[in-house]
Amino acid sequence: MRWIKTVNITDIKNEEIFSLDLEGREMMLIKKNTEVFALDRICTHERADLSMGFLNEDSVTCPLHLSQFEFETGKALNPPAEGSLKSYKVKIEENVIYVLVD
Ligand code: FES
Repeated sequence: MRWIKTVNITDIKNEEIFSLDLEGREMMLIKKNTEVFALDRICTHERADLSMGFLNEDSVTCPLHLSQFEFETGKALNPPAEGSLKSYKVKIEENVIYVLVD
């Protein structure tokens, strides 16, 4: 496991989905007030790009068939998606966001 440097916290707007590719991983960062979440951004149902989706209070909605995934765990909350998104630990040091990857 290692921490990978991503972007500055000021590069991300609050309550918007920030899309990034990190060493071949298709990921997204979501800033919600003081917290930042990192998740894979490809839906586990039919590969829709969740960065084109919609944010809710604690989840992101897939733009294609409207499954929702929890920010914190990546858990699929409603069908048709069944599998969870991979979620990553995040740390912020000197305003830079780092993501822990395998
Ligand atoms: S592609 Fe996301 S719910 Fe179907």
